[in-house]
Amino acid sequence: MGAETVSEDVDRLLEALFIGDDPALASAAERSGKAGLPAIAVSPMQGKFLGILAAAIGARRILEIGSLGGYSTIWLARALPKDGFLASLEIDPTCARVTRQSLEAAGLADHAEVIQGPALDSLDALIAEDEEPFDFFFIDADKETYPAYLDRCLALSRPGSLIVADNVVRGGGILDGRSTDQRIRATRSMLQQASANPRLATSVIQTVGVKGHDGFSISLVR
Ligand code: SAH
Ligand code: DHB
Ligand code: MG
Repeated sequence: MGAETVSEDVDRLLEALFIGDDPALASAAERSGKAGLPAIAVSPMQGKFLGILAAAIGARRILEIGSLGGYSTIWLARALPKDGFLASLEIDPTCARVTRQSLEAAGLADHAEVIQGPALDSLDALIAEDEEPFDFFFIDADKETYPAYLDRCLALSRPGSLIVADNVVRGGGILDGRSTDQRIRATRSMLQQASANPRLATSVIQTVGVKGHDGFSISLVR
């Protein structure tokens, strides 16, 4: 408990220092809570980190898989230039509606869109339509499908794209090679797949703080 409490306190200190009051983000979180969505969005510092990554590579086209209530979506959409575009894929109609409302309220609806439906279907449709490549991907939906998501993101990428996946450490859950938990098995497969792919340079950064011990994988497409 002790170490967790310290890392949570540190997160709160850093949020106060580097984020402060942010009405659009606060209202997205509040709208999500009122709609009964679980509190599993990225943390404020993680959201800001994602936005910095996207801005650092000058991302003009961002693809998110898993919108929830639009919290990470707002961070990512804010990183776009004026003529940028973000698509967020979400299976749940309530989540899709809340995310659209959050984007609208944040003044980001002009260049961010929610595509409602199973993400794998939406990804396959984008691939079939020969959609222009995306610069930045954030994989954060059902963990069971992570290997297929990585595969589809690669198909929609270009050399220089970044593919970030959330929750790939799961409190050390990925250590268990015999786990029967499909989320663990699929996460391990995705990491294995990333490691074996010569087109990808991948690192995983473990995280602590208000979301406990977890991590992001970050893959650069070559
Ligand atoms: N990125 C969000 C959190 C996403 S939580 C944030 O940080 O703010 C995971 C989301 O993935 C949930 O909203 C869930 O409904 C969605 N999801 C689960 N399975 C999915 C699927 N097959 N296709 C698309 N979205 C899915
Ligand atoms: C869960 C999902 C997430 O994307 C996350 O960041 C934390 C928890 C979950 O499904 O429990
Ligand atoms: Mg997540």
